Amino acid sequence: MSIADNIKSFMGKSSLIREMFEKGTTLKAKYGVDNVYDFSIGNPNLPPPQEFTQQLMQSSGELEPGIHGYMPNAGYPKTKQAVAEFVSRNHHINLTGDEIIMTCGAAGALNVIFRSVLNPGDEVLVPAPYFVEYDFYAANAGGVLKTVATQPDFHLDLDAITESITPRTKVVLINSPNNPTGQLYPAESLAHLGELLREASERHGHVIYLVSDEPYRRIVYDGVQVPSILEYYNESIVVTSFSKDLSIPGERIGYLAVHPAATDKSDLLNAMTLTNRTLGFVNAPALMQRVVPKVLDASVDMTVYTKNRSLLVENLDSYGYKFITPPGTFYLFPQSPIKDDMAFVAALQEERIITVPGSAFGGPGFFRIAFCVSQKTVENALPGFERAIKRF
Ligand SMILES: Cc1ncc(COP(=O)(O)O)c(C=O)c1O
Repeated sequence: MSIADNIKSFMGKSSLIREMFEKGTTLKAKYGVDNVYDFSIGNPNLPPPQEFTQQLMQSSGELEPGIHGYMPNAGYPKTKQAVAEFVSRNHHINLTGDEIIMTCGAAGALNVIFRSVLNPGDEVLVPAPYFVEYDFYAANAGGVLKTVATQPDFHLDLDAITESITPRTKVVLINSPNNPTGQLYPAESLAHLGELLREASERHGHVIYLVSDEPYRRIVYDGVQVPSILEYYNESIVVTSFSKDLSIPGERIGYLAVHPAATDKSDLLNAMTLTNRTLGFVNAPALMQRVVPKVLDASVDMTVYTKNRSLLVENLDSYGYKFITPPGTFYLFPQSPIKDDMAFVAALQEERIITVPGSAFGGPGFFRIAFCVSQKTVENALPGFERAIKRF
């Protein structure tokens, strides 16, 4: 085969989620779409907020010359300025537009960062369970993703992080609220993380970047606040997108924000502007860059996710499932009632319920339910969840 060796191995590795997705497709063909309860993918089912749709219609009618042309690789200056003001308000630190790069989603931003800072063999340390695509993003840049255990409730294990940092660690990557666990890291944890990274950077004689991937920042419940890493560590980069909070993942729009006091900040920003271009993104989509500054404070109506979360939490708890109630995201990550999460996910499939085994996220013994589905799907799936756990 003429496919690159590492891509061949990744094709095998990524097959678990694809398998679940395909299983869902097969079951839907057999039993009908309404009779299969597909919780496999974090593809939000809610419509975008009305403001977004209105602004999109308006922006798509604009006709100024050059409006569809190339632009600076980091994005429209006006968009970056608006985003910087938004980030400054929400992260309690003053940023300028120069510290923002508009990207093709959070995924694009992570690839841009890794390509800019990793030398071949450099390590990205991530608490597990984690969003499985990180493996591929690190490898795209010749880096290696290393995992570090979290506490039983999926909070950061700071001692384990300290022990896992090696001379090759270049990036510590966190994701809060977390996919797949739904956990959110409190301010004290981030403050300690900042402290330990300052010490580790000094010990190893190079900057260790803290990258915070936070596309779920606004998908939170019960009024919880998501603290910002920008308040606790200068060598930090926030990565996010509008995929989840505006329900527009197909539009590929996001950004990264660099701490104003980062060491060698302008080199870092120049490098990332270059890689945004050379990785083939060139620039984030122009139309979206004209729309999002007008809807920065808008977010999806959380009522459906809130209802789905309560339905699942209350009922699965009463059936005997064990899990943390997720403070954020639209994921629930229960323990598998049997050790073999793959076997339990297969048992759920017999109930026409599609979930993803924790093994797919470096979290064996658990399974993930993505509840960004209709309330009817959740309600109809509940008896199957009850029957499945009763079998064991
Ligand atoms: C934790 C996490 N990071 C990044 C992404 C990629 O999102 P985007 O659509 O912004 O590239 C996802 C998507 O599901 C995610 O869950």
